[in-house]
Parts: sequence; structure tokens; C-alpha cells
Amino acid sequence: MASEHAHGTEFRDKYGPWALVTGAAQGIGSAYAEALAQRGLKLILVDKQDELLRQVAEELRQRYGVDTRAVTVDLAAPNFIATVCQHTEDVAVGLLICNAALGTVGPFLDEPLEDLQLAIAINCTAPALLARVFGKHMADRGRGGIIFMASGTAYYGNPFVASYAATKAYNLILGESLWYELRDCGVDVLAFIPGPTNTPGLRKGRPGLKEGVEVGMIKLPSRAAEAALQALGHAPTAARDLRMTLQIALTTRILPRRKVIARFGSRLAMLRRTPRPK
Ligand SMILES: NC(=O)c1ccc[n+]([C@@H]2O[C@H](COP(=O)([O-])OP(=O)(O)OC[C@H]3O[C@@H](n4cnc5c(N)ncnc54)[C@H](OP(=O)(O)O)[C@@H]3O)[C@@H](O)[C@H]2O)c1
Repeated sequence: MASEHAHGTEFRDKYGPWALVTGAAQGIGSAYAEALAQRGLKLILVDKQDELLRQVAEELRQRYGVDTRAVTVDLAAPNFIATVCQHTEDVAVGLLICNAALGTVGPFLDEPLEDLQLAIAINCTAPALLARVFGKHMADRGRGGIIFMASGTAYYGNPFVASYAATKAYNLILGESLWYELRDCGVDVLAFIPGPTNTPGLRKGRPGLKEGVEVGMIKLPSRAAEAALQALGHAPTAARDLRMTLQIALTTRILPRRKVIARFGSRLAMLRRTPRPK
């Protein structure tokens, strides 16, 4: 218990006093928020799910006694960064977690043009602008941390989630690059691969999956959040667990790239043919 407390204090000194988490109303984002509240950080929680977001902010405030702010904003809106800055101008954000994302599944040629644009705005433009703004403040203060949410799909072509996978590659590369660029300024950067996680986002594509359970490789959001916070400051990239790390090593270093792409392509094509329960 004592060492847990010390660990929390050390974390807060390095990455506090405020953390900003996007997509914090549910899924891995709300798990991050809880793990950070446990460490005593104050929270700026950003999402477009207004009611849910306020609930999470209020619950964490009551349970852990930390200040919380709910900032309801659409990260795809052209002026979102101004809104976020307005709500944070009086506080020092020492940790930024770029977590919100839009995932789309299906043949690329069937994707609505609007969805393609939205996914790039939410998954790429928003993390880049947030990291630029808050990374600069952190560098000026000489300390801080930024986590980008990548994915196993970021490492190779993923047919039928082509655009989503490409946006995750953007986060992987941006995170790894900034890990090097910002380390001399005292800012730790991590690109994180959570692995399949039982969140509302994942359940949209798996209607049979119940909330709050682990099935095979699909784990609870708290595992991903905790693993990322523990890895921050130790490496440019990390995955949730050894199995994910080995899977990435196998698919990127051992198997021929064309085989990996084809294997994932046929798997996703099969999933898409499975009729959804009514
Ligand atoms: N779950 C997995 O298996 C998995 C695997 C690999 C990587 N990841 C990555 O992990 C991160 C979190 O995933 P998750 O599964 O926890 O997501 P999730 O369950 O879909 O939750 C994401 C939250 O972000 C919000 N959000 C989405 N677009 C937004 C926008 N434009 N403005 C403000 N808020 C927005 C969502 O609101 P709405 O519900 O209204 O959209 C939702 O509350 C993502 O970056 C994802 O790519 C997840």
C-alpha cells in the first residue's frame, strides 16, 4: 500500500497536476480516467457524449476526491482546439492521452466520404493538434507525458479496416517520432497498442459480446489503461501484454508481409459474411 502511494506521488509529480483524456466517457478512455484519479491526478475529460461524460467526471470526483472537468466537444469540429484551450487556459496539463477514435469496418469503396473525412479528423488531426499545443506547454515546463493510441492494425495493411488502420499507423509513427524529439525536453511520449478490448466501440461489431467480461484475447479496458500508464517513460511503443507483443513481432518480423495482409484480409472478409443476430 505504502509503495502504491509512493508510486502515485511519483507519477503525479512527473505528469500532474492535470491530465487531459479524450474519449473519456466510456471504454478505454474512462478506464484511463479512473486509473489517473487513483494516482491523484486532476482530470480534464473530453468527449462528445455529454451526459455520460458528466457522470464519469462526477463519479471520479466523489470516489477519489480529485477535481474533474467535463469538456463536451466534437473533436471533428474545425474549432475544437480553441474550445479545449478555453477550458484549460487556467491549468497545467502534464499528461495528454489522445484516446478518442472513430473505427469503421467495411470495403474501402463502400465507405461514405463523410466517414473517411471524420475518421481522419478525429484519429489524426485531433491528436496532432492536441500534442502540438499541450506538448509545447509541457516542453516549456520541462516535464510531462503524451500517449497516442495506436493498434495492432497500425503495423501492416488491414483489408476492410483500411482507413482506420492507416489512421492508427499515423498515431504509431507520430508517437515514436515525438518520443525522440521531446525526450530532451523532459516529455515522455508513448504509442500504445491496447489489443482487443471489451469497449462500446468493439461491441458495436460484436453484438454477442457482453459488457464487463474477458473472452480470449479480448480484455477489459482497465488492463489496457494500466499497461499504458506503466509503460509511459520506458519505451517509445508498448503493447498491453506479452501475447500482443509476440503477435506483433511475429507479424512484422517473421512472416512475409504479403501473407500477413492476406491472412487478416480473409479473416475480416469472413467476419463480415457472418450474419448478425437480429
Ligand atoms: N477497443 C479495442 O479493441 C481497441 C483496439 C485497438 C485500438 N483501440 C484504440 O483505443 C482507443 C479507445 O477505443 P475504445 O474502444 O475505448 O473506443 P470507444 O468505446 O468507441 O469509446 C470512444 C469514446 O470516444 C468518443 N468519441 C468518438 N469520436 C469523438 C469525437 N469526434 N469527439 C469527441 N469524442 C469522440 C466516443 O463517443 P461516441 O460513442 O459518440 O462515438 C466514445 O465515448 C481508440 O483510439 C481505438 O482506436 C481500441
